[in-house]
This record gives sequence, structure tokens and C-alpha cells, in this order.
Amino acid sequence: MNKREQLNRLREEAQLGGGKERIESQHKKGKLTARERIRLLMDEGSFEEIGALVKHRSRDFGMEKQQILGDGVVTGYGLVNGRLTYVFSQDFTVFGGSLSETHAEKIVKIMEMALKNGAPVIGLNDSGGARIQEGVVSLGGYADIFYRNVMSSGVIPQLSAIMGPCAGGAVYSPAMTDFILMVEKSSYMFVTGPNVVKTVTHEEVSSEELGGASVHSSKSGVSHFSCANEVEAIEYVKKLLSYMPQNCEEKAPSLPYDAGEESREVLESIVPENPNQPYDIREVIEGLVDTGSFLEVHKNFAENIVVGFARLAGRSLGIVANQPAFLAGVLDIHSSTKAARFVRFCDCFNIPLLVLEDVPGFLPGTDQEWNAIITNGAKLLYAFSEATVPRVTVITRKAYGGAYDVMNSKHIGADLNFAWPSAEIAVMGAKGAAEIIFKKDIQSASNPEEAWKEKEKEYGDIFANPYRAAERGFVDEVIHPAETRAKLIKGFAMLENKVANLPRKKHGNIPL
Ligand code: HXC
Repeated sequence: MNKREQLNRLREEAQLGGGKERIESQHKKGKLTARERIRLLMDEGSFEEIGALVKHRSRDFGMEKQQILGDGVVTGYGLVNGRLTYVFSQDFTVFGGSLSETHAEKIVKIMEMALKNGAPVIGLNDSGGARIQEGVVSLGGYADIFYRNVMSSGVIPQLSAIMGPCAGGAVYSPAMTDFILMVEKSSYMFVTGPNVVKTVTHEEVSSEELGGASVHSSKSGVSHFSCANEVEAIEYVKKLLSYMPQNCEEKAPSLPYDAGEESREVLESIVPENPNQPYDIREVIEGLVDTGSFLEVHKNFAENIVVGFARLAGRSLGIVANQPAFLAGVLDIHSSTKAARFVRFCDCFNIPLLVLEDVPGFLPGTDQEWNAIITNGAKLLYAFSEATVPRVTVITRKAYGGAYDVMNSKHIGADLNFAWPSAEIAVMGAKGAAEIIFKKDIQSASNPEEAWKEKEKEYGDIFANPYRAAERGFVDEVIHPAETRAKLIKGFAMLENKVANLPRKKHGNIPL
């Protein structure tokens, strides 16, 4: 065999990973291979592999006789929608995609290159966890990756698609990335699997019930997207990237946009006359942003708040919106942490924030108090307060109590605050307020029910509108719903070059 043939043979061997049989078995499970996934992700012909000939160094348990080129992970770089992107894709056909010392080194190499060159890293995870035959060097490999995840956090976007098992400490690398996407029925994430759970807690639970895509995208909130299949997951990765800049020094790309008639009459009839009647805030979002541009994040988790990316006149925008159609849009522990994390992501990567507010306050009760709504609600307050990106709020209806302050109020640094004529900005709803401050009057009245209604009206007339706040300048302008899109386009354009610096510090101490 001459040298040319030798290289060609090695290349061919590396392409096969764990071999034809294991590839077939992967396909039979409805899963793609590591290389097939990369082909779907990257622009055609753009992928360049790094480390295809790497072999593991394990000499225990006969491992020296089982050498597979690439050692269970395909790593490299290429273009996604024309932009430089780094990728590692674990190959389940090689020792179950388990993480050896060298497998970890390959991932670390890619992460370091991405950090130096300022481009996102996509992890396509499909792994049985630490390579059991290697012991502590595998654990060290994980920690090397975790450390790079943290060093890269806020510098370059990091996205994790979970496309198979993800168990043990392996879940912590994805957990430290910006977004997690899971594939329904074929991926799961847990710190300890069903067998350990059974031994320790005597609970009988399947992998799917314990840590499947549906559980993590609705109950725990670990996953931001639950995807029907791998192709959809990769499409979501590409779409998500399109809203983001390459790194924290850049702005997200703007799409070409032809300015036209920006009035949106449809917005006039969404908020019902009756303030206790719900409506879907997504209708407001769709009416405001560029058609079809809204990508909701964490759709099935803490549905009382809606977060996601969109475009306004071609520019990327992060949206945080109370959802009156779910639990009346109340703020609770999960909605606060969900929104806080999203706000912080947008702030890291220079994505301006639009807040739509219709919130009756924080959710009362022992469950919330005992699980620290104080600390968790404070996360959202903290996240908005420290965000230096352009920030605009539109109060569509209720802005009550502490939630008024938290939801990107003027007082915590919002740049432009608008309110619709339907806005009610007060310490609390008129009924509850009347009951407290006019308690004696109501009790001593000949008809307490009537008196209560009267006092409710009196309080409502004063505060169930946006004008007291506008008098003070807490609201910059009261606007008609139909003109909101035009106001937002102009407002965000005006704020485009905003400069705001936080006081010099090592880092803040967000209430974790
Ligand atoms: C080495 C592994 C492996 C591992 C799987 N394989 N996991 N090899 N180390 N961790 C190998 C199998 O021996 C098998 O090899 C091939 O991969 C496919 O595995 P199967 O079991 O046949 O596949 P399947 O039935 O689909 O089950 C997949 C699985 C199961 C659920 C992932 O393999 C499994 O439970 N693996 C162990 C998971 C685990 O406990 N990992 C350690 C977690 S602790 P052959 O040659 O037969 O094809 C951890 C600590 C990290 O990760 C700490 C960081 C802080």
C-alpha cells in the first residue's frame, strides 16, 4: 500500500465509526448517525473535520485491541446559513458514544477554537456517559468540558441538541449551554437513571417518564425545545442561530426589510373590554413583529410567561410577555426563572428586549413562599435591572404591585415605556384595594355589597388607567394598539447605538 492509499484507507475507516452493523442498529432505532446529523446541520460541502484519526489511550480490559478512529465523536467546523459554526457530534456506534479522555480532548479543542475565533458551538449529544473502562480520566475529561462551557458562557452562543441518552454528570455540560433541544421518544436526560432511582427511592419509573423530552420541556424546564424528530431538532438549531450574533462583541444579523404601512388595526380588538377576561398574548406578539418571525422558546414550560425571538423591521428582538391566557399571567417561581434566564441570554448577546406586560401580580400561597418565590422572583428583577441592551415595555393591561416594578419598569432602567389605553397601573386590582383601604366604610355601610362596589369604582377611576403613570413620566407615552408597531420600530432604531455601562465590579451576585 503506498502512502496515498494508506491515507485514503484511514479516511474511509474513520467514516464508518463503529461499523456497518452498529450504523444499521442506530437507524433501526429511528436515529441518524453522528455524520448524518452534521450533514443536515452544515451548509452543503462546508464541513471540515478535525481529529478524524484520534484513537483512545486505554490499555485496560482489552481496550487496546478495540481502536476505532475518531473515538466516538466527530468534531469540526463549517457554515450554518453561511456563518462559521463549530460542532461536535457524538457517535453512538463507537462504545455507545461514551466519553473517553481523548473524546473529551477533541471536544475541548473545538470549544477552544470557537472561543478564540468568536463563533457558536453546537453539541449533538448521543452518549452513554463516562467511558466506563477509563475511570477517572473520563471524569476529568467531563470537567475539562464543563470548565470550557463556563469560560465560553456569554462570549459565544452554545447550543445542545440531545439526540440519545444523556446520563450522569454528562447532563451538566448541556445544562451550562444557552439552549437545550430534545428529541421526543429517543432522547433522555437524568443525573441518575431508573435503576438507581428504584434502589434509592423505590420509585418505578421509565427513562421517558424520568427524563424524556416531554418531561424536561414541560415539568422541569431543563429543555427549551421538544422536537418531533432529529431533522426538526436540527432545523430548530439553525433557526435559533439566525437570531443570534456570532459572539458578544457583535450584533445579530439584520434581514433586509422594506418599510411600508406599519399600522396594525388587528391589535385594536385583542384586549377584551372586561379586564378579567383572558386573551392570548401571542396574538399581540404576532401582530407586532415581522410576519412569521416569532420563535417561541420554552413553549410548554411556565406558560404564564411567553418568551422567544422575533424580528422587527428585520432586526432580532427578544420578547418577554405575560400570558393572560394561562393563570391570568401571574408571576410565579417558574415563570420568573424562565424569563430571567432568557433576559440574561439576550443581554449577553446584544439582542434588544421587548416586554409586553399584563400581570396581576405574584402568585400567593404556601407552595410559592416555601419554595422561595422571593429569591426566584428577585432573579427576574435582577436580570432586567442589569440588562444594558435597548429595553422597551408596552403595558397592554394590568401592571399591578411588585410585578409592575419587575416587568421592565422605567425605574429599573427600561428605555421606553408605552401603555395602551386599556392599561391599569396600580398597587393592586380595584376590588382588593377597596376592600383593604375602605374596610371600615364598607363594614359600617347599610348595604356593604353596594358600598364595596362604589369604592371599587372610586379606586378604579383613579388607577385603572395609564394616566397617573403617564403624568409622572413612568410611562413615556400612551399609544393606540394599532400604532404600536410603528412606535417600536422607531424606538428601537433610536436606541440602536445605546451605550450603558454597569458600575465596575468583578461580577454581580444574582440571587441564585
Ligand atoms: C463504555 C459503553 C458505555 C459507557 C454504553 N457503552 N455505555 N461503553 N462506557 N458508559 C457501549 C455498550 O457496551 C455497547 O457496546 C454500546 O455502547 C451500546 O450500548 P447498549 O447498552 O448496547 O445500548 P442501549 O441498549 O441502547 O443502551 C444505551 C445505554 C446503556 C442506556 C446508554 O448502554 C447504558 O446504560 N450505559 C451506561 C450508562 C452509564 O451508567 N454511564 C455512566 C454514567 S456516569 P457494544 O460493543 O456491545 O456495542 C457518568 C459520570 C460522568 O457519566 C460524571 C461527570 C461529572
